[in-house]
Order: sequence, then C-alpha cells, then structure tokens
Amino acid sequence: MIKPHGSDALIPLLVTDAAQREQLIAEAETLPSLTLSSAAAANAVMLGGGYFTPLTGFMNAADALSVAQKMHTVDGLFWPVPVLNLADDISDIQGAPRIALRDPNVDGRPVIAIMNVDAIDEFTAAQKDTMTEQVYGTLDPAHPGVAVFQAQGNYCVSGAIEVLNLSYFETEFAGTFQTAVEIRDDIAARGWQKVVAFQTRNPMHLAHEELCRMAMERLDADGIAIHMLLGKLKAGDIPADVRDACIRKMVDTYFPENSVLVSGYGFDMLYAGPREAVLHAVFRQNMGATHLIVGRDHAGVGDYYGAFDAQAIFDEVPEGALQIEIFSADHTAWSRKLNKVVMMREAPDHQPSDYVFLSGTKVRDMLSEGIAPPPEFSRPEVAQILMDHYQSESMAKAS
Ligand code: ADX
Repeated sequence: MIKPHGSDALIPLLVTDAAQREQLIAEAETLPSLTLSSAAAANAVMLGGGYFTPLTGFMNAADALSVAQKMHTVDGLFWPVPVLNLADDISDIQGAPRIALRDPNVDGRPVIAIMNVDAIDEFTAAQKDTMTEQVYGTLDPAHPGVAVFQAQGNYCVSGAIEVLNLSYFETEFAGTFQTAVEIRDDIAARGWQKVVAFQTRNPMHLAHEELCRMAMERLDADGIAIHMLLGKLKAGDIPADVRDACIRKMVDTYFPENSVLVSGYGFDMLYAGPREAVLHAVFRQNMGATHLIVGRDHAGVGDYYGAFDAQAIFDEVPEGALQIEIFSADHTAWSRKLNKVVMMREAPDHQPSDYVFLSGTKVRDMLSEGIAPPPEFSRPEVAQILMDHYQSESMAKAS
C-alpha cells in the first residue's frame, strides 16, 4: 500500500486508549485553556485522524512562513498550507507549558486536545498579509478563505498535541466521517491497490460522476474513494447531509457494487485553489489513495484562480516529494453530438453550443422553483433530493 506522507506509518494524534483518554480529560480540567478558532479545531481533527501525518501538532511562525513561501517547513518537509492555531487573546495561557484547547463548534466548548506549548509567536500584519497572498493568491477580503484567515488572531500558538475527540463530525456524520486510519483499513480490507480519490464539496452532478468513471477506467483502478468535505463552507453552499444523501443515492444507483468507498473528512473549506489541491493530495496519500482527481477550478471560488492552476501547481512539487499521482481532468460536460459526457479537449470539433452548460446560479434557481435540471446535467434521483432541500429551505424562510 502507498506509504503515508513523510513517514512509514500513519501518525494519528487521537488518543484511543480509554484509560489514557480519561486521564487526559481529567488533567485538561486543571490546565489553562484556549478556545480555538474553527479553522484550528478543524486542523486538530485532521491531525487527530492521521490525515496530516507526519505533523505532530501546530506549526510555529518560522515553519508557517516557510510553508507559505515555498511549501516546505524549515526542516525541509514538503507541506503546502500552514497548519496554524491562531489566537487573538493569549492572556489565559501565557507562560503555561501545557494547555487545554477547547472546541468552538460544540456546545459547552469541550476540550478537543491538549498541547505542549512550544512557542507563542506573534505575526506582524505584514507577515499575515504575505502568507495570505502566498496561500490564497489574493488579499481580497471578499475571498471567503482570505476573510476567515484574516479574521483570526495574530498569535501563533504552536506545539505538539494529543487529540481527545474528533469534534462534531463523529456524531453528526456517523457512517460518513472517517479518519485516515479507518480509510486505510477499509482499502486494505477490500484488497484495493490502485485507488483514485475524488475530492468534493458539492452534490455530485453527472459531470462529476463521469469524471470518476473516466479516471477509474483510464487508470484501471481497483476502486474510487469519494471523499467529501464535512466542515464549514461559505454561505450558499449545500449542507453536508444533503450532499451526502445525493452522493450515496448516485453511487448506489449507478456504480457497480464494491467499486466506490464513500466517506468524508472534518475540515473547513479554504477555497485556496492550487495550494488546497496540493493539501488535498497530501491527505489523500495519507488515507491510502494512489491518485487524486484534479479537474477544473479545483477548490476554487469566483474568478480568483485560472481553471487549471490547481493542476499546474503540481509541476512545482519537487520530484519524489509526494507518492500520490494526479489525474488531471479537462472540463467535462454533456455533448449533444455524442450523447455522453466528454472531456472537452477530446472533442476538438465541438462548438460551445454542442454542450449542455448550466451555471451554478441557474441550477440553484431551477431547483428552488422545483424544476429538475435536465438528465444531461443531473441524475433525476439527485435532482429530487436537491429540489426537496431547496423547497424545505424556502418554506423555512417563508415561515
Ligand atoms: S471542490 O471545491 O471540492 O474542488 P467540486 O466538488 O465542484 O469542488 O469539484 C470536485 C472535483 O471535480 C474537483 O477536482 C474539480 O476540479 C472537479 N470538477 C468539478 N466540475 C468539473 C467539470 N465540469 N469539469 C472538470 N472537472 C470538474
């Protein structure tokens, strides 16, 4: 099986031994504590589940600046996006060698992890702006990822952590949320060698489905791992439970049994386009995938990135830094001439009018009005789930 990133074995930071956990939970109540940002809590969940192997905690300022600038830590580990715990108020934890980290996303703010504090550095506003531009490619506060990053504090609280739970993901998405450890075990149990990962934050329409099928066939893969984001999204994106239902319906109806592993991960969307695509590759390698599909505007938002920038960035990944390979896909859409979904570069004789295109806004409008998008765009079963969702939303708004 493919090795984890930078390590022979996964390094999940979740404490699974019950007695040890109990002891740490009791200790946590005696420690000074810091309530995390949602982004930092999501990092803790990823570290807990082994997705961020070989990291053992939150990065210090020097590593974060180095990662943002050149995708390597000071010690030379390849890593594409700083893994930070940023705080704006450190008065309660100053000088403490060991602190409890509290979860902002769960009622009562329970302790999610304990940290051995390595350092508390302070970023200047200029350093934060530089990191923002390097990671997100823009400083525009209208970019949803930039807005979230800039809203976090300037203190960088770094050090190794022990994770006590995986936040709201295990309870809210039971059966879908999985750690990298669980997915590796699942892949091994299925006996799959070549596994294609598909990242998604959307319900899957026909172009997504066909993209998975094309990757699977062309790579002659044993299986596909559809891996959906379960953390926070920008306003207007479709909630995870609805996406999950769409994806499962599509897989159950249209894929051969035992060819698809459906699961999700607990991370907030960064919308960082190319840099996030590389992070996606790192944690898909950690969960045991040999390939990651990177299509059009992967992890993008608005017009901040070129349609294929998230593929081009892999040219900057040094030889051997990652084991996972990228399946680079061109824009896929339904061809009226060929009566199937095609990659546009493979249909050079087509005009734009030969394709069925629908903008996201158009699709949302149709669904809210109870009009199913055409079957060339969306499976009817998926469209039905989405229409039900939009209609219950508009009823909730009206009442
Ligand atoms: S993402 O933010 O998670 O990347 P989305 O769920 O829409 O968004 O996309 C999942 C994957 O499918 C990404 O690799 C994306 O590039 C790819 N993709 C989505 N739609 C298309 C399309 N029409 N043509 C080619 N690739 C696509």
